[in-house]
Amino acid sequence: MIAKYTAKISGTGMYVPKKIVNNFDMEKLVDTTDEWIKTRTGMSERHFIADDQSTSDLCYEASIKAIEKSGIKAKEIDMIIVGTISGDYSFPSTACVLQKKLGLKGFPAFDIAAGCTGWIYAMSIAQQFVENGVSQNILVVGAENLTRIINWSDRGTAVLFGDGAGATIVSRADSTDISKIIDTDLTADGTYNELLIQPAGGSKMPASEKSVRENLHTIHMEGNKIFKHAVKSMYSVCDHLLKRNNLDVKSIDWLLTHQANLRIIDALGKKLKIDKKKVIINIEKYANTSAATIPIALDEAIRNKKVRRGDLVLMASFGAGLTAGGLLIRY
Ligand code: ACO
Repeated sequence: MIAKYTAKISGTGMYVPKKIVNNFDMEKLVDTTDEWIKTRTGMSERHFIADDQSTSDLCYEASIKAIEKSGIKAKEIDMIIVGTISGDYSFPSTACVLQKKLGLKGFPAFDIAAGCTGWIYAMSIAQQFVENGVSQNILVVGAENLTRIINWSDRGTAVLFGDGAGATIVSRADSTDISKIIDTDLTADGTYNELLIQPAGGSKMPASEKSVRENLHTIHMEGNKIFKHAVKSMYSVCDHLLKRNNLDVKSIDWLLTHQANLRIIDALGKKLKIDKKKVIINIEKYANTSAATIPIALDEAIRNKKVRRGDLVLMASFGAGLTAGGLLIRY
């Protein structure tokens, strides 16, 4: 399809809840140490949601900032897409709950369940709706509240997650804009769907006394197997984006990947042969906020004047599904 218009990111925003839980706090909750968490993951602290908050509240706070930054009025938004696997409810979608909180109605709002790749999947959909002329300003949010579904009897997963949201406005660019969403690359390999799963709570295994007793409403993950898949799949989407757009890795200003494990980020950076100084990392502050890691880090990097207008930013993520996705933008 030949695009009628060009899509760009016109605003970003982020929100993390106030409560900070550091690795020493974690030592009191599970059989772990600050040293293990730091050396095996790169994480130092994470934010936990307050009792009276839910995922849509995180979305709302991040969205307000992104709308303000983009210079549009909330009523100019004509679609909302939320990437999440820990929405307020199984249904309705968190996007519809967010639409109400923003005081909006009368346009499509839906969630994307692609694990940590949710925001990139959502950005790819938004790009297409803007390019084909159907939409002008799409609110895309990656938001997660995984700390409410932590399996506290599994130290291998309990220490990894934090809560937060990152929001982005994808708008129609005009002919004078240098900013644009250049390309996206999405994939999935469902043969591995059980490597990262919340086994109960869906229609296959509805809530029962047994499912609660056996902790089946929590995160179950085979971290080791996912680790290998993560590096391979993120490398593959980055490679496709670079080749398809005739770019050498040297021309990339910033590599921004899913913040799940510092060792995964390092391994990908090495495989891509990108200068270490060009790799954006904030995992130490927020841990793995799943679909929110990249939009949070992007917003921070823009506000810190690391990412500047005209920079080429290559993003990549992987997650439950198993999914993977890449996004190439000129900011
Ligand atoms: N504290 C102390 N020791 C621990 C902890 C902990 N929190 N967790 C595990 N260990 C121990 C294990 O018991 C094991 O001990 P043993 O050797 O005596 O048996 C040892 O550490 C090594 O365990 P591994 O699981 O092999 O540790 P690994 O180095 O692989 O790190 C981790 C585990 C951090 C989970 C890593 O595999 C990883 O990051 N995987 C990818 C996770 C991921 O990215 N998931 C997808 C995104 S999430 C999403 O989509 C929602």
